[in-house]
Amino acid sequence: MTPATLLTQVLSVSSTAPDPVVIAAAAAQIQAGGLVAFPTETVYGLGANAFDADAVAKIFTAKGRPATNPLIVHIAAPEQLDTVAQPSALAWQLAIQFWPGALTLVLPKQGIIPAIVSAGQETVAVRVPAHPVAIALLHASGVAIAAPSANRSNRPSPTTAAHVIDDLAGRIDLVLDGGSTAIGVESTILDLTSPVPTLLRPGGISYEQLQAVIPNLELASRYQQPHNTAAKSPGLFSKHYSPQAEFLLFAGSPTAVLGEMQAIAAQRLQAGQSVGMLCVEGDRAALTEWASQWPNHALTHAIVILSLGTADQLDQIAHGLFAGLRQLDRQGVDVILSPSLPTTGLGLAIADRLLRAASGQVIQVD
Ligand code: TXA
Ligand code: MG
Repeated sequence: MTPATLLTQVLSVSSTAPDPVVIAAAAAQIQAGGLVAFPTETVYGLGANAFDADAVAKIFTAKGRPATNPLIVHIAAPEQLDTVAQPSALAWQLAIQFWPGALTLVLPKQGIIPAIVSAGQETVAVRVPAHPVAIALLHASGVAIAAPSANRSNRPSPTTAAHVIDDLAGRIDLVLDGGSTAIGVESTILDLTSPVPTLLRPGGISYEQLQAVIPNLELASRYQQPHNTAAKSPGLFSKHYSPQAEFLLFAGSPTAVLGEMQAIAAQRLQAGQSVGMLCVEGDRAALTEWASQWPNHALTHAIVILSLGTADQLDQIAHGLFAGLRQLDRQGVDVILSPSLPTTGLGLAIADRLLRAASGQVIQVD
């Protein structure tokens, strides 16, 4: 990792009516080949002029991202799709229906997209973000903006400007602080270059929403059993979206999972570790009561219980998930224990991020 040497400017901006003066300053950075972090409706992106290979190269350096991992190209409006990609009829239909929004389409690329953006592939990932700051920046820059999530590689995606600053201060030119992002997990990635449209990453637009338009939609094979006791194929999930702490994901009936989480937490506490426990709101009181038997003041370890939200409000859980993981890291826990959550709607994206945090390993309890 290269040392942090830039002076990173932070500018506050209204998320509903962004000040044109602030946006113009950010657009000037983009046009000059700089790096600007900006809010989208999913997570913060780290943007550079998508047509400027040297500017895009700086994204990889700032994040510590492998050159083999391609970037998403953001455009201001669906009509611009064919300037960066070669859309099929289905691509146009999806663009019109879901953009601006949390759907990224993988399509054959246009020659104007430098190889570094697509990591040498002949395809490009494209989306129109649904956030006034992102759209204003795209319009003012007058170019497409290549932007991965604005975190250090392998860290949870940033949902606030503070998360971006924690990871990238001194490595990027500017952060537009437009508050916390609404959805909290990244966009859904749909590959339209495979023989059958394939969902590569579940995200803000659900599998069910897409299947209503694409009856033969396939899930990339690794998602077909989200709670696969993953010893079968752990290699498919490199540690990603990850807190620094060890992360253990439990699946099974809610009661059995809660019991096993307590048993494992007890072992870890006795071994002198501090433990973070993620839970749904309905389990928070019981876990807190259980935790009160451990006298933190007398020991060097601690238990941190963090409720992600109500089990049937997955939008709330998605919104707070990455911030929760970052919070537990800041509190210095050694291990995080998490239950699995429902996989319908936004739940599929949440389950995917939890599974990746756990490096693809699930502890099946019953
Ligand atoms: O919500 C989001 O998608 C956010 C915001 C900023 O738009 N961006 C984001 O970017 O999450 P990133 O780089 O963190 O994730 C993009 C994913 C990566 O897994 C990358 O491998 C995949 O998209 N990707 C990009 N181009 C691709 C391509 N041509 N073919 C297949 N996958 C691609
Ligand atoms: Mg990312």
